[in-house]
Parts: sequence; structure tokens; C-alpha cells
Amino acid sequence: MHNRKSGSFHLFLSVITTLGAIVAASVVAAQSADRPWMNPNLSPDERADLVLKQLTLDEKLALLHGNGMAHAPQWQMPLSHLTNGGAGYVEGVKRLGIPPLVISDAGYGVRDSGANGRYSTAMPSSLGAAASWDTDSACEFGTVIGQELRAQGFNMTLGGGVDLAREPRNGRNFEYAGEDPLLAGSVVGNLMKCEQAQHVVGDIKHYVMNDQETGRFFVNAVTSKRAMQESDLLAFHIAISIANPGAVMCSYNRINDDFGCENSYTLQDVLKSDWGFKGFVISDWGGTHSTEKASAAGLDQEQPMADFFGPKLKAALEAGRVPLSEIDDHARRVLYAEFLSGIVDDPPQKSVVDVEKGLEVAQRVEERSIVLLKNNSATLPINPSKVHSIAIIGGHADVGMISGGGSAQVDPPSGNAIMPPGKGATIWQKPVWFPTSPLKALQAKLPNAKIDFDPGTDANSAANLARNADLAIVFAYQWLAEDMDVPSLSLPDHQDALIEQVAAANPHTIVVLETGTAVTMPWINNVAGVVEAWYAGSSGHKALANVLAGDVNPSGKLPMTFPKSEADLPHPDRPSIPAESQARVADVADNGAPTSNASAHAGYAVHYDEGAAVGYKWFEAQKKQPLFAFGFGLSYTTYAYSGLSVDSTAKTARFTIRNIGNQSGTETAEVYARLPKGAGESFKRLVGWKRVTLAPGESQAVTIPIDTRVLQAFVDGFDGAKDFWNLAQGDYEVLVGSSSDNTPLTGSLQVQ
Ligand code: NOJ
Repeated sequence: MHNRKSGSFHLFLSVITTLGAIVAASVVAAQSADRPWMNPNLSPDERADLVLKQLTLDEKLALLHGNGMAHAPQWQMPLSHLTNGGAGYVEGVKRLGIPPLVISDAGYGVRDSGANGRYSTAMPSSLGAAASWDTDSACEFGTVIGQELRAQGFNMTLGGGVDLAREPRNGRNFEYAGEDPLLAGSVVGNLMKCEQAQHVVGDIKHYVMNDQETGRFFVNAVTSKRAMQESDLLAFHIAISIANPGAVMCSYNRINDDFGCENSYTLQDVLKSDWGFKGFVISDWGGTHSTEKASAAGLDQEQPMADFFGPKLKAALEAGRVPLSEIDDHARRVLYAEFLSGIVDDPPQKSVVDVEKGLEVAQRVEERSIVLLKNNSATLPINPSKVHSIAIIGGHADVGMISGGGSAQVDPPSGNAIMPPGKGATIWQKPVWFPTSPLKALQAKLPNAKIDFDPGTDANSAANLARNADLAIVFAYQWLAEDMDVPSLSLPDHQDALIEQVAAANPHTIVVLETGTAVTMPWINNVAGVVEAWYAGSSGHKALANVLAGDVNPSGKLPMTFPKSEADLPHPDRPSIPAESQARVADVADNGAPTSNASAHAGYAVHYDEGAAVGYKWFEAQKKQPLFAFGFGLSYTTYAYSGLSVDSTAKTARFTIRNIGNQSGTETAEVYARLPKGAGESFKRLVGWKRVTLAPGESQAVTIPIDTRVLQAFVDGFDGAKDFWNLAQGDYEVLVGSSSDNTPLTGSLQVQ
């Protein structure tokens, strides 16, 4: 009802509001007149240009290097206390409203929260997230990390690892997204797109060919341009085009002789010129080796110190060895990334991390990432009317689950679950266990089952427990971390023998794997089932219990090939480091940082002769049967594929999937293609996929775009001629199915 009193009150309110708006507008106007780059309606390019014009030389140079790293005694500088406990700090330009970069590692969660007295959610490892083949999950993964970074006062992430799992023994494979460029690029691209959308500067790393940790500060990755373009570079290109990150981190290793952070081919020619990357190139920590060369090659910012891009860069400029235009370009790129990511307009405010949300997302991602590799006689899901007693063995499953180490390490609440309390949560290169007990989670799901535990340290005692139980579950782990590769793909700590013995005692033995890369399984024929849980994150125990008990139907598929043995790999024995370099390998600080100039170790090279035939492509080309193929993963239901038609104009594959089992489930349908016969290529390439959820008996017609970016051949111009990409004309065989080695439908794509 309207009355005069309330009418005049409304009038009063609207006058006040209008006056307020006028005042606010004039403040903004004054601000923009004074600081036009603060106008959010201008593009990041325009804003960066406006700021650049205002900068003194010293202000520009300050944008081009770090100022030390928290918790690293060898990398302390006068401003390292400003890192907020993170990996790095770059000065801003306070007088112009340009914030400093406050940088944290955040591979699967925000690093170092323990030392900083904070909490971070551990998402499943990125390799696990890739096993979901789910770009929406990847987006949620990135969103949580972006929000937690901001809550902890950081405005830049160092996540976004997308090096291919070319070498399955690489100790950092858990930080990456598998062996296929399209899958890895799409997963990591979406992850980082959503992370940066939270207003933190995004990062994609380690650019490029950082495919092993052995000799990482000096190893020379040797490969042809074409091979690199169609494999590792392609993964980066796809990830970078999706995420549009503010930063790309160049890698420690050499690529065809030049270090990743002074490589004019990868940085200048490919990343900046061909791909049009407008953000800044940040060096890996201690990965800068020169001033003029690195600057000219396209490195924009040295981290975490100022050894080459501090006083030396200024001197080089003053001596005319580095042009001002180069300095301007570096500085402009840092400013561009700040505007692009939103950290200028929306700086982080410290707040309490949304713990519940993090746990919920971590669980959902893990539920989609778990891969069921074997399930004889429908041993899983556990049927409570038949299974009354369960022997749980090994893997510290009574207490927790293992996580990946190095700079990606996330600190578990209340410290390492298998170390005495108070001894410190994380130590570089020591396995860290989260307090996420799968035993407890399973007991909560199956309250009437009698569940007993044996640590598995004595195989006889474990077998005895297993013998008398209806079901035995062995938890097996393989720990990976930065700065090391695993010597082999065998499970460590005599776990193969443990599994053999338990399986001999109980035919209903399930193995749950907590691994960061592929493992070999000499016992595969003797166990009833295998579940790959990867590094499962903060809610991994709950996700796993849901899968084991059947509340969640597994839907993950392998993002990398599991070989039968190392003998089947392109490099069965990896080249060893020559003696003179070997002596210097030990010359590494506690946190894996190089302590000396690695350029002395030029002698160690890995020749990637397999070229672009990475993972499943290698196995197919060599006609080798893997243990489990790329793209493989079972479900508690069964799917049937039919009726493929390929539309060559629209470049799509259309077919029908039907759930022919009696449970609902989600199937990832995979589409591959082979280049026309004349191309002489003996493997197929993944060109698309789709996750489809189907009720029992339900069928769905799906249309999947064929991504021709991955079908192009890179043509190396040689001798100064321009390189180019070519989508060959002809008849491409299209293959559709549930994994790379099971493609029941075939069709043909005609490219004119
Ligand atoms: C070295 C690692 O290779 C890199 O991934 C990490 O971001 C930096 N250290 C900073 O911790």
C-alpha cells in the first residue's frame, strides 16, 4: 500500500542513491583521468600499454625477476619475506596500482600450507583427473585451487603441468595429464582456464620436453621439430589455447641443445610468434642461464632470484647489448598478465578456505578418476550379503593414502599420517600420507562386515589373514616425486611378492593401486580384480569406498599405457648420466634446486627417436601388446556400440551407445583416426571423446567432433623456408570404441 510518508522516504532514498552514483562516477572519472589503465572496459593490451608508458626503467626491470623464495635458505633476498610463504615474489608498482605477484606452487592444491599455518585441499593428482576424461571435473579442480590460492593471499599459481608421459618412469607424471596431446591439453587447459577465472595469474608448465627428472637441470632432449610439434608441443598448444594463461614456465632441460629458458625456437618462434602467446615466460626456479641470450630468446622473468635479469640485465641494456624494446616487451607482458587475470581489479582478500567445498569437489573428481582395470566374476562391487569378512592388507590403509611429492606436495591436516606427530608434515623427497583411511571409509560403508588389517610387512602373516576372509584387498603404492624418476615400473618394497602370496591364499583378492604413473603387474593373472585409484586426494578414501561398495559405478579410463614390462618401452634402459655430470647431480639443494650453473653438464642427452609415437602410438606402431591399453577402463555395467556414420563435411563421428547391463553408468566413448595410407604412419591418433551417462537399457546417439588439429602433419621448412601444418587430403580411417585397443566401429573421413 502506498502512503505519503513512504513515498517521500522513497524519494529521499532515490535522491541519495543518485547523488551516491554521481559521486562514485566522478571518483571513477577522476581515477581514470589520473590512472586510465584502471578502466576495466579497456582491453588488457591497452591497459598494459598505458602503464608501460608511465614506468621508469627500474620499475620495468623490477617486473622481470623474483625476490627469493620462502623456506629455501639458498634463495633469500631482501624481499623474500614478502612471498607470503610461497614460491616467489615480484614487485609491483604501488604508485600506479599494479600489485606485486605473490606466487605459490599449486599442482594439486596449494603448497606449503603446513609451514604457513594454513589448510589446503588436495585434489586427486592431475594424472588422476585426466583419467576422468572430464573437462568439467578439470574445471572444478582448477576452480577450487584458484579459490584456495586467493583465500591464502596468493595471486599467481604455478600449476598447469602438461608435459607428456613419454617416459613412464618420470617421477613427475602424477603432476601431468598422461600421454596423449589432445587429452592432456584439454584437461590441463580447462583446469587452468577455470583456475585463472578465479582471478589468479594462470600458468602452464614445464615448457617443454621436460619428460624425465633424471639430470633435469642439464639433460638435452633431442628430437625432430616435427615429432615435438606433433606430440609435446601440441599438448602445450592445446592447453594454452584453452586456458589463455598469463604465464608459461620454461623448463630446466635443454631442447635440441639450448636450455628451455633460452631457447629461441620454442619460446620466440613457436610460443610467441606462431601461437601468439601474449603473457609472460617465467623461468623454472634456477632455470635461467644467461642474460642477453635468454632475453633475446623470449624469457621474460627470471625466478626466483635476479642473477641474470637483475643488475646484469640493466648493465647489458646500458651497454647496448640488450635493446630497450626487449625490456619493454618483457615488462609489458607481465602487466598484460596482471590485467588479463583480473588481479589488478580484484586483488585477493585473505579468508577462510571453503573446506567443505574442497572436500566435496575432491571426492567427485576422484570418483570419476578411479579406473577399474580387472574384475573377474563380478567380485566388485562388494556384495554385503555374500562378503562378511574382509582382510585389508598393506599400504597403510588403516591410516591413510599416499600423495605425490616435490613442489606439488600438499600438506595433510595434522601432518604426515605415518610419521610421529610433531615431526613436521612434509620433507622434500619423503613420502607423505594423508589421514584418509580407506579401511575406515569402507567400514563405514559396510557396517556389518568384519574388517581386519595386516600391514603387509610380513607376507606370510598377510596371507594368513587373507586365507580366512571372504575377500582380500591389498593396497599397493608407488611413490613419485619431483627431482627423481622411479628406477622401474615395479611396485617398490616387495609389494609384488606380497600380492602373489595373498592372491595364492585367497582367490578373491582385489588390488587397489595408489600410483603416480603406470606400474607392471606380474601377478595380474592371479588376482580377481585391480582398481587404479592414483593419488586420491583429500577425499580419496570416501571416493574409493563408494566405488568398492558400488555406490559409484567406476568410469575412469587410463590416460596412459600400462606396459607389461619396461622392455616394451621406446627406451627400455634409459641413458645413464656420464661420470663428469654424475658428480654434479648431487650438487642440488635440499629442495631440488640447482646450486651451480648447470651449463657445465652438456654431455647428457636423451634421444627421443620414437618421435611423436608416444605411449599407445608406440605400442601400436611396434605391434606390442600392453598390459592395459590407453583409454581402457571397466564399469559395473556393459556398453554396446553401433551404427557409426562419419560426416566428412561437418567432420563429426555419429554413433549409438547402449547400456546393456543392469546398472546405470557413464561411458567415455573414444574416437580415433588414422592418417591416409600414403602418410606412412602406423598408429592411430585420438581425435575426440565424450562421457555419456546411461540408465540400464538406455541408448543414446552421440555426435563427436573430429579434432583435425591432431590430424595435421607438421612440415619442417628447413633451411629458412617457413614451416607449416598440412591436413593431408585423402581417406582417414575413423575408429570408435571403449579404448584404444577396442574400437568395434570403423568408418571413413574424406578430406578434400
Ligand atoms: C621447480 C619445479 O620444477 C617447478 O615445477 C616449481 O614450480 C618451482 N620449482 C617452484 O617451486
